[in-house]
Amino acid sequence: MPTENVGTSTDDLPKYLQEHCLTQECHQLLSSLPSETGWVADHLYQYQGFWHHVRQLQGVLTCRNHLQAQDSDILLVSTPKAGTTWLKAIIFALVNRLRYVDDPQQHPLLTNNPHELVPFLELQLYVDNQVPDLTNLATPRLFATHLPFVLLPTSVKDSTCKVVYLCRNPKDTFVSLWHFANKLRPAEKGKNCLEEIFDRFCRGVSICGPFWDHVLGYWKASLEFPERVMFLKYEDMKEEPEVHVRRLAEFLGCPFSAEEERKGLVDSILKLCSFDNLSNLEVNRSGKMSSGEAYNVFFRRGEIGDSENLLTSEMIERLDQITEQKWHGFGLKF
Ligand code: A3P
Repeated sequence: MPTENVGTSTDDLPKYLQEHCLTQECHQLLSSLPSETGWVADHLYQYQGFWHHVRQLQGVLTCRNHLQAQDSDILLVSTPKAGTTWLKAIIFALVNRLRYVDDPQQHPLLTNNPHELVPFLELQLYVDNQVPDLTNLATPRLFATHLPFVLLPTSVKDSTCKVVYLCRNPKDTFVSLWHFANKLRPAEKGKNCLEEIFDRFCRGVSICGPFWDHVLGYWKASLEFPERVMFLKYEDMKEEPEVHVRRLAEFLGCPFSAEEERKGLVDSILKLCSFDNLSNLEVNRSGKMSSGEAYNVFFRRGEIGDSENLLTSEMIERLDQITEQKWHGFGLKF
């Protein structure tokens, strides 16, 4: 497919955030979409109700056109900064636990960042209109995405593949995203103005936002199709990790046997995937994604309630009000 240059580009941005090299299809689509100032790259575009950076949108289109989901696939979906890196590691360790139980020093998580082991569809596999050959991947194939429910490829909806959804309370999500975006922005642009970017988040204009619509889409899906969509919260995972790892194993069809429980496998997986362990591994301290961003940007504090260190009481009140209003009557609370 032909590609075109649009807008200005800043070449030191991660590859998936640059704004050139788009297909004709994407270029034409962009001209018809509402746009706003981006958090990292120059622009965000609203497609089917959700906001995307340009290159990400290209990946969304390609993935929707080409992904052939299989019934055995496992798809981890999250809002950005919900703890995706953590859950990628946990799901990888869970599903592959038999392979490394006798030789834990060879575990791939010790030498690979979780994003390489469970790649994002629209940001890694289908980025830049590339169509990867996924036929030889080990079963179950593990993929991740930030796609909202309405934008999931038809083949995912038509298959019986399992979807694990992870979200986090809106205040900590916003704060984590603010720090993350600031780290990815080119140095000459400086940090995003907190008040301005907060207002954008509240209006729904954030990466893959509106945050509340993203969460609600999967919440409803998890109620309608509980055997296919599992809904997890970062806070619950932090508070009772063993409980949720066991639930996850059952949902994915690989419950822990009595023997595995006796050997303490739940605990070994959680230790391997803990913030302290992963963030201190050499690969995660000094490695980089092929798209350019350092792995260490995915590890900051990993705590609940950090928003109180940054947001004013007015900001917290505003977010609480929006949350109450958007989710009223759906039984969804943090
Ligand atoms: P903070 O910015 O609040 O520290 P994502 O992986 O979706 O990009 O989310 C990143 C957030 O998850 C960051 O939150 C990061 O510190 C936290 N995180 C990363 N690895 C983690 C782990 N192993 N356990 C708990 N939290 C983790």
